[in-house]
Amino acid sequence: MALTVENLSKNFGKTTVFKDISFTVDRGEIVCIMGKSGEGKTTLLRCINNLETVDSGSIKINNLYLCNEVNGKIQYASKENMKEIRQEMGLVFQNYNLFPHMTVMENILEAPLFLKKTNRKDIEKRANYLISELELKDKENNYPYQLSGGQKQRVAIARACMLNPSILCFDEPTSALDESTRSQISKIIRNLASQNIAIIIVTHDNAFVEEISQRVITLSNGSISE
Ligand SMILES: Nc1ncnc2c1ncn2[C@@H]1O[C@H](COP(=O)(O)OP(=O)(O)OP(=O)(O)O)[C@@H](O)[C@H]1O
Ligand SMILES: [Mg+2]
Repeated sequence: MALTVENLSKNFGKTTVFKDISFTVDRGEIVCIMGKSGEGKTTLLRCINNLETVDSGSIKINNLYLCNEVNGKIQYASKENMKEIRQEMGLVFQNYNLFPHMTVMENILEAPLFLKKTNRKDIEKRANYLISELELKDKENNYPYQLSGGQKQRVAIARACMLNPSILCFDEPTSALDESTRSQISKIIRNLASQNIAIIIVTHDNAFVEEISQRVITLSNGSISE
């Protein structure tokens, strides 16, 4: 299993966002997470991507625990395991979170050059491959402000794919896109799933869910149902 979430609970102060939720996502699967505004969808994605801590339960990425309960206390992965886990995860934010002062190419190269997993030449080769896959060839020297919404989205996807993740998460990937750009994105996402990546998509967009989803998980009142 790419992702195993067990009995996960998250509170902000006295507010419970979700309680005891469990689900799994396999590689190659496309799972949509739906639910009303404020139900905790973004918070759940942030917890899975270690941008937010949880209060109890466990999150397992492939065979490594991002967090786990040991003697009733939540314990996070060691620094070494965390580095490995980070490389397995990609997150495409709703507002894309591109670095505004960096070009498309620089945005895509930033994390892998920082992590130095392989040499610069191989990193650039993968970047060029993704740039051409995502049809950004003539945009690589543009800055984010010089891109359309759909192009920014594709840069964010290329950036998230650089480290060959086994899980890719999307927060509202279609909220700023028109219909034809939406079907382009769903084609790209389906293609990623066919490369054996587990895809988790938070969305309100029913038409998009119809088009792409293999499973739907609904968050409601802090619990999930499938
Ligand atoms: N950093 C925070 N501190 C305190 N409360 C927070 C924080 N982040 C989110 N919340 C609260 O947690 C709940 C879930 O928020 P979240 O953003 O996960 O909802 P969502 O399902 O993604 O909503 P939307 O569909 O509107 O994006 C909300 O009640 C929100 O106010
Ligand atoms: Mg949200």
